Amino acid sequence: MSNAIHRNFSNSLPTVSHGEGVLVFDDQNKSYLDASGGAAVCCLGHSHPAPIEAIHNQINKIPYIHSGFFTSDVMEELAEKLASLAPGNVNHAMFLSGGSESVESALKLARQYFVEKGQTKRKHFISRRQSFHGNTLGVLSVGHNEARKKPYQPLLMRSYAVSPCYPYRDKSTNESEHDYGIRIANELEEKILELGPDSVIGFIAETVGGATAGVQPPVEGYLNRIRHICDRYGVLLILDEVMCGAGRTGTFFSCEQDDVVPDIVTLAKGLGAGYQPIAATLCSTEVFDAIQQGSGALANGFTYMGHATACAAALAVVKTIERENLLENVRTQGKLLVELLHERLGYHPNVGDIRGRGLFVGVEFVANLRTKEPLNPNLLFHSILKNTCLENGLLCYPGGGTIDGTSGDHVLLAPPYIVDEVHIEMTVDRLHQSIEDGLKTVRASRVAA
Ligand SMILES: Cc1ncc(COP(=O)(O)O)c(C=O)c1O
Repeated sequence: MSNAIHRNFSNSLPTVSHGEGVLVFDDQNKSYLDASGGAAVCCLGHSHPAPIEAIHNQINKIPYIHSGFFTSDVMEELAEKLASLAPGNVNHAMFLSGGSESVESALKLARQYFVEKGQTKRKHFISRRQSFHGNTLGVLSVGHNEARKKPYQPLLMRSYAVSPCYPYRDKSTNESEHDYGIRIANELEEKILELGPDSVIGFIAETVGGATAGVQPPVEGYLNRIRHICDRYGVLLILDEVMCGAGRTGTFFSCEQDDVVPDIVTLAKGLGAGYQPIAATLCSTEVFDAIQQGSGALANGFTYMGHATACAAALAVVKTIERENLLENVRTQGKLLVELLHERLGYHPNVGDIRGRGLFVGVEFVANLRTKEPLNPNLLFHSILKNTCLENGLLCYPGGGTIDGTSGDHVLLAPPYIVDEVHIEMTVDRLHQSIEDGLKTVRASRVAA
């Protein structure tokens, strides 16, 4: 019996040995093609020399310094670099240790902004169903991954939800994508009016919905409309790019593709690429100035904020993405991945939808293509698929409850930005095989039942 607490207490996990580029090896020397970097983390693969060298250099100088006593060159340079990449007047960044902390900090920053401006009645956040913003209690409250919330419900703060942008299930057939996007975005305005505009702090959404709903890129016009509504009522727009940011979708910030500038935006997974735990919360000049000209201090501090070694790793990751022109590769390989998935799975009787942006791609499974009826959730197809993928040497990120927290199965693919055509073909081959193997297991269990 292990002394470590695992996510699944039964712990039947293989033991990792090492990683090489896009491959992971276990202690039996079995290799796995990593097509998801865990949860869209390992964007440079597993052995890139640049962040490793940057980490060594920084540790040799000073591994950690408390951000209340000193700043560091690496933190300053990273902030400057991210500000130069961020859209519009998003010019300031703070550094945390993980996605949940960065979103938690975004919520607190948003509230503090209004406190500094004397608008202390503002206390509500509005978010979307089928969203996820992290596991600490604050962000768990504003997220809507119902399975993750359930045991903690009595501890959570009140939050309000509108529809996600989910055209595969919610767009009516006689509606254009654009009209659908406007209709869905308008739900935000209704909710703000219902709560009272001067009581709302912000609207928070993943620019591209991630693991809960199986990758949901916004339709054209949707986020612009959201921005417009936020501006009309003085509500802050907080975009969570913990999963979809840092180049994952083919631009450094995914919202660049929607031509939308948030007031606050978060980054995490791809920022440190797994070499160090690091996340960022960025804000506009307006938010920053309100605090600087008000109390002049952040009311929210963490011990490991601005961790020097983590900043050094992230800086090396961002510079590598630029130096190796990896965003271009994300766009090219992402297009190929979607094309091959359509070619190989587009007519599969259990593949309802293939969607994505860049190297952030989701496949949604159904029992019936015409009616879009999901697979029986009791079959736990996503869980079976995870195992068949592991058996076939593929790491990907399947999930369940895609539609409403209970029904629906999907798989999320998020290969490293360094992949080539051969890796993409292998990913699709192995996924196809694993889906067939998984469905065979499902049929066998039905017969057995
Ligand atoms: C969109 C989004 N926000 C926040 C988080 C929380 O990040 P972390 O697990 O690093 O705390 C996640 C994690 O999956 C995420 O996908």
